[in-house]
Amino acid sequence: MSKIKSVFIGGVVGLMTCCTGCESKQKEYQNWEIYGGTKDNIRYSKLAQIDTSNVNKLEQVWEFSSKDHDQNTQIQTNPIIVDQILFGISPKLKLFALEAATGVQKWIFDPYEIHPDEVKGQGYFSMNVARGVTYFSDQKTKRLFYAAGPNLFCVDADTGTLVKEFGTNGKLDLHQDLDRDAASLYIAMTSPGIIYKDLLIIGSRVNEGAAALPGYIRAYDVHTGALRWKFHTIPKPGELGYESWEDKQAWKNVGGANAWAGFSLDEKRGIVYAPLGSASYDFYGGKRKGNNLFANSILALDAATGKRIWHFQTIHHDVWDRDLPTAPALVSLVKNGKKIDALAQPTKGGLVFLLDRTNGEPLFPIEELQVPRYSELIGEQLAPTQPWPKGIEPFARQAFTEEDINSLVEIEEQKEIRQKLQSLSTGFTFNPPTEKGTVIFPGFDGGAEWGGPAYDPETNLLYVNSNEMPWILTMVKKQEDIQETETYSSAGKRLYQMNCMSCHGPDLKGSGHHPSLLNMNSKYTLDTFHTLLQEGRRMMPAFSQLSEMERDAIASYVLDLKDKKEMVFNGNQTATNPYWDMPYTSTGYNKFLTKAGYPAINPPWGTLNAIDLNTGKIQWKIPLGETQEFLNKGIHTGTENYGGPVVTAGGLVFIAATKDGMFRAFNKHSGKLVWETKLPYPGFATPATYEVNGKQFIVIACGGGKLGAPSGSVYLAFALK
Ligand code: HEC
Repeated sequence: MSKIKSVFIGGVVGLMTCCTGCESKQKEYQNWEIYGGTKDNIRYSKLAQIDTSNVNKLEQVWEFSSKDHDQNTQIQTNPIIVDQILFGISPKLKLFALEAATGVQKWIFDPYEIHPDEVKGQGYFSMNVARGVTYFSDQKTKRLFYAAGPNLFCVDADTGTLVKEFGTNGKLDLHQDLDRDAASLYIAMTSPGIIYKDLLIIGSRVNEGAAALPGYIRAYDVHTGALRWKFHTIPKPGELGYESWEDKQAWKNVGGANAWAGFSLDEKRGIVYAPLGSASYDFYGGKRKGNNLFANSILALDAATGKRIWHFQTIHHDVWDRDLPTAPALVSLVKNGKKIDALAQPTKGGLVFLLDRTNGEPLFPIEELQVPRYSELIGEQLAPTQPWPKGIEPFARQAFTEEDINSLVEIEEQKEIRQKLQSLSTGFTFNPPTEKGTVIFPGFDGGAEWGGPAYDPETNLLYVNSNEMPWILTMVKKQEDIQETETYSSAGKRLYQMNCMSCHGPDLKGSGHHPSLLNMNSKYTLDTFHTLLQEGRRMMPAFSQLSEMERDAIASYVLDLKDKKEMVFNGNQTATNPYWDMPYTSTGYNKFLTKAGYPAINPPWGTLNAIDLNTGKIQWKIPLGETQEFLNKGIHTGTENYGGPVVTAGGLVFIAATKDGMFRAFNKHSGKLVWETKLPYPGFATPATYEVNGKQFIVIACGGGKLGAPSGSVYLAFALK
């Protein structure tokens, strides 16, 4: 290991200070020590041993299985590789170190088994997904940071043990430093933090419902875990952006505006870029009137102090759950003969915002588009305009209309879809939520998602994989007058509708990625049900803000508890926060599907796009993924996909991500498929590429567990033999 590499954050300092011509310049883009490849978040590698001429000879060279999957688990991890050791995360959030050349395990850290006291009361129930881990080193120490549930762990990279000097015995509670009564509210961290000097900068995942914590961005001392700065993503009185909330108490009560998708960092300038999510509650904004800064904004902060440098809000007063799903890619372009350091921000809506990264100025004009202003939801107040980047082609279709009804299915089925479509609000991406149902297209999961884009500095092409699935958002008015004497079961149903229906559907049958709750009484006792609600599990948030009696009532409804159902419920005195008491909820995240379960829209249902950032034009676009029954007829449908691409100097774009469980390589100039292999479980994750002893490897986590695929716990590495 060379001296330079062991000093503080390895190759990336070299990357960002390459102009000074330091030794590690040669290492620029050769390592994968950081989530997303490098701090500029471009998923680009200079490694070129595997290229378009030999990629067809790529073979699996090792497999590692942590063997801890169960029926719902996933792995969304983009692993990192430092000094020939690969650090990855298992389905049950064990952190592990492997020899990157062989896949042989060095150590494994299981917070739930090795340190049960540290996570007491937060057993497997509180697990979420963890998309990556952050590495820090200096002369004295080598540390890894990652989160499991509400815990941020600091683990010694050599030994896999907790670094006791950090935080409280090697751990920080993510609930702290949020200036709210946070203990009972849900928080986790799905994307890893980023290192700037001796700071670990982190975001969070918070509840999408009304009872949500604010997504303050926090920076902690990597050595001690002491808070060094925080940025109020929901501004306090006197702070810029406070005026964008009409209700002057909203800042104390409304949550969200969280950077759940990680960060990119311009290390030379000391600017960290955060992509922010919507304010809570996602689909009704009547209790958060105004533009809601800094929700849905790209935020540029001074990485040393947390002071805002600039911000750009991509959606005003979001009521569609249009979180920014990935950190922006930091790119450099030449415009009118001048080099501009810019950033490219793909959105769930299928757009790319291209801004000067020093000041937030758009490189192509951005229009404020007039959008529907009227909402039928009482108390809602929509924004009159929305930002619309002109000059850069959208990478996904923008509306689902009758012309685009899935024509691969029988005429009868098409008719049914047409009827359904006619009953819905559709045709424009900014149609507001309605009680009859509004088509959300591109869907809740993009457009772009957390896999993020890849960017090739050689060609200025931005590679973005996209979903094109229509979803239906249906709002439901809250039951008005609650009877004086309510039974447990009617209170339970009411509370279910307010708290659970948005994921589990109106009739307990589940929606989108959320499971059915039918027949839960064979699986849960009253006790285990309480524990689940108190602690949450993976993407299911905790509901510890509900009183015990409220949870009991929900249990009596969901578990159909005969002995409780008729009891009189008088738990309504519980003083809940009025900001959390929404007049509307939704019936869940429902995909608009044909009877046979295909998207109601014509293919492509998933695409890979190469966007020329110089011209704003799409250079090529291909369906990504196949559906066997249509492939047999020669039709390439593309599939829903999760996990991002990697682009290399070898002329290749690698991507797994698809429902069909393939791992593919494309010619980066033409989009032509040049290699593919079937994975044991779909790789809903982003690959990483690295070199050990002169050999280039490409590794992908195969966790399945989404889109109907079985779960697995395998990492596979490929190389030329
Ligand atoms: C934001 C979406 C969301 C909300 C809101 C939500 N859940 Fe869930 N729920 C999930 C997900 C996702 C899972 C699957 C968790 C896993 O990976 O095991 C789940 C799982 C469950 C399970 C276990 C299912 C099984 O087969 O073991 C129960 C029971 C449950 N939820 C009840 C509730 C109740 C009751 C509420 C309301 C108080 C609620 N959920 C609110 C997303 C949600």
